Amino acid sequence: MKKTILITGGAGFIGSHVVRLFVNTYPDCQIVNLDKLTYAGNLENLKDIEDKANYTFEKGDIVDATFIDSLFEKYKFDGVIHLAAESHVDRSITDPMAFVMTNVIGTVNLLNAARATWKDKYEGKRFYHVSTDEVYGELHDPKEFFVEDTSYDPRSPYSASKASSDHFVRAYNSTYGLPVVISNCSNNYGPNHFPEKLIPLMINNIKNKKPLPVYGKGENIRDWLYVLDHARAIDVIYHKADDGETYNIGGNNEWTNIDLVHLICDVMDKKLGQPVGESRNLITYVKDRAGHDLRYAIDATKLMNKLGWEPSVTFEEGLEKTVDWYLNNWDWISNITSGDYQKYYQEMYS
Ligand code: NAD
Ligand code: DAU
Repeated sequence: MKKTILITGGAGFIGSHVVRLFVNTYPDCQIVNLDKLTYAGNLENLKDIEDKANYTFEKGDIVDATFIDSLFEKYKFDGVIHLAAESHVDRSITDPMAFVMTNVIGTVNLLNAARATWKDKYEGKRFYHVSTDEVYGELHDPKEFFVEDTSYDPRSPYSASKASSDHFVRAYNSTYGLPVVISNCSNNYGPNHFPEKLIPLMINNIKNKKPLPVYGKGENIRDWLYVLDHARAIDVIYHKADDGETYNIGGNNEWTNIDLVHLICDVMDKKLGQPVGESRNLITYVKDRAGHDLRYAIDATKLMNKLGWEPSVTFEEGLEKTVDWYLNNWDWISNITSGDYQKYYQEMYS
């Protein structure tokens, strides 16, 4: 029987890569992309697959329980891959409640709808919750890495909301037997990344010769993974993990922010045909993020050994592909920064 999978947040950065991978890899599977099209959701990300027979878009809000119940009633999903979220740490510091609503309440609405639809008949069913390494807090000891049973210690409203949603997902597994899996991934980068996040923000500002804001001293460390490698990991985990399992996903690729910004500057200088060193002059140290986590670093051994996943691109290749993508798709970023795409799709689906 043809399976129907709900992917939430499929118009966002990571979600759009997951939707494309599933639509192209599983033509016998119906993929329903549910997205509210917030400032971060952009259907232009999926232009190349929007006419495929196995793809459907539904505009809606996961916070609206009545709507979510009716969507599950309509499609009787076999599986859910849940990515929809408020995802930017800085926004969570100024508006925590938006994160509680979407990330916590929205997730519980989906869990309730899955439970009501599957009615304890869980054969062939799966609820996959996409989470983040930020739930583990921050690392100080350079020899330490986040593993799947590292204790939770979220330190921002964003990570607290994601940690809360992870706890609900696990609680629905323990209490009701809901067949869930969770993955916790490190920082992603790649095409279609919204230009409020570090890498696309730097690319955009370098192109526009605007200051490059580095928080604090630029000493914080992030572990960067190419977005398609995250999407590939989600595919493998969705299809091969056992119910109730958790997997960490990461590329073993740690950079201090300032080293990374230097690298982006140098790659951009070469691509723009300007003297190497020119963009570094734009670097501006600014006030640190409140509660700024010092270091994230993922140990993805379980995923590599048990399910055979490994990253497919090196950071140097991935960063070059990313810079090329932005420079070749400048309309994408111009539309986002002008808000035009949002007006267009909001009108189209209102
Ligand atoms: P994003 O902000 O680019 O996209 C989020 C998407 O969710 C958008 O399309 C938005 O319109 C949609 N959305 C937001 N609120 C919604 C609501 N109430 N109802 C329906 N749709 C809604 O986020 P992203 O960076 O692609 O992250 C996707 C998921 O992966 C998130 O759950 C995030 O926590 C997780 N994650 C992200 C990273 C990363 O580095 N970006 C790393 C690990 C985990
Ligand atoms: O680790 C996974 C997480 O990675 C995801 O769960 C989040 O959704 C995603 O946004 C990302 O969170 P970060 O806070 O690590 O990403 P961001 O791109 O906002 O910042 C990366 C680092 O760069 C962080 O240490 C803060 C710093 N920074 C960020 C911005 C936007 C700057 O120095 N200047 C900036 O202007």
